[in-house]
Amino acid sequence: MKYRIFGKTGVKISEIGLGTWQLGGSDWGDVSEKDALAILHKSVEMGVNFIDTADVYGMGRSERLIGKFLKETKETVYVATKLGRREWIENKGWPAKFTEKMVERDVVDSLKNLGVESIFLQQWHCIPTEMLKNGEPFELLEKFKKKGLIQHWGCSIESIEEGLICMEHPGCESLQVIYNIFRQKVSGHLLPVAKQKNIGILARVPLASGLLTGKFKKGHKFPEKDHRNYNADGTAFNVGETFAGVPFDKGIEFVEKIKEILKPSQEIPMAQMALRWILDHDEVSSVIPGATKIEQAISNIKASSIPSLSHSVHTQLEQLYKTEIEPYIRGKY
Ligand SMILES: NC(=O)c1ccc[n+]([C@@H]2O[C@H](COP(=O)([O-])OP(=O)(O)OC[C@H]3O[C@@H](n4cnc5c(N)ncnc54)[C@H](OP(=O)(O)O)[C@@H]3O)[C@@H](O)[C@H]2O)c1
Repeated sequence: MKYRIFGKTGVKISEIGLGTWQLGGSDWGDVSEKDALAILHKSVEMGVNFIDTADVYGMGRSERLIGKFLKETKETVYVATKLGRREWIENKGWPAKFTEKMVERDVVDSLKNLGVESIFLQQWHCIPTEMLKNGEPFELLEKFKKKGLIQHWGCSIESIEEGLICMEHPGCESLQVIYNIFRQKVSGHLLPVAKQKNIGILARVPLASGLLTGKFKKGHKFPEKDHRNYNADGTAFNVGETFAGVPFDKGIEFVEKIKEILKPSQEIPMAQMALRWILDHDEVSSVIPGATKIEQAISNIKASSIPSLSHSVHTQLEQLYKTEIEPYIRGKY
């Protein structure tokens, strides 16, 4: 495993981290506690030291499992969580504004779930652009940083515009963005600014919810409780979070073309190459693929040790994106 400096925090985090939306056990089907703990243990054994979660993944389940794991491991693990969407879920809409009381409740609950005294990284969880623009949510996190309950803060965002707004605040230390072969706009529009301002970049949905592993066929049916069923067209939340916003069957066609360029093999499967594509952008601090099975986590970690993709492969993928994929991307971008 290779490590990269996480922006202004100065901390070295693994270039492959672990996303744990799956461990909530709600939006990706069941993942048992035993399997979840096995995924966490194996990942950290293999060098992962950065884990991303959120208070709403299984309404605290993902955080609580990580808390349990932290008690069992001797390794130093940096855990990033998120806040903001609990209000949206529980009250079926955004609050008029976030108050100090709401933030305190969410921070304190995450601390309890994780079993820590201070949160390594707290992130706003895709809150509306207007709220980011007025800057109040940032000042609230500054308060909790001063109290020592959080060490660093950043934002999980949906569009380039939002990323640019967040980076204007001197306290913002990281951005979490949807970044993968399907969604390349980040490369030219966000990464150069982040590099110049020394902002840590976390690449989420790196496998386009599994599409970029090449394992699906057209017409695949996902279980009812899987967001790839109920949010394939953005019915429940931002369509970009599901298949990176690409219509599923169209995505399968793109994957065939991407395969021809990447030429995956038994030794280096497509998922590893898709993660490698992201890692080849050195502005990225960590790529955070999710996993429902231990084998997936093991395979994804290997993306850190395979060779970079060639210049020609990068150029061909950029061409494919510009000429064919970009018009199909849906959702705020
Ligand atoms: N708004 C936000 O802030 C936000 C939104 C989305 C995600 N995130 C974070 O980003 C993380 C990553 O994004 P994501 O989990 O949505 O999408 P992802 O990493 O692109 O896809 C994960 C899914 O791909 C499949 N997969 C992973 N590795 C595989 C492998 N080696 N071989 C075959 N299949 C594999 C698994 O699906 P199967 O179910 O088919 O096994 C897994 O559940 C999340 O866990 C979460 O921490 C944050």
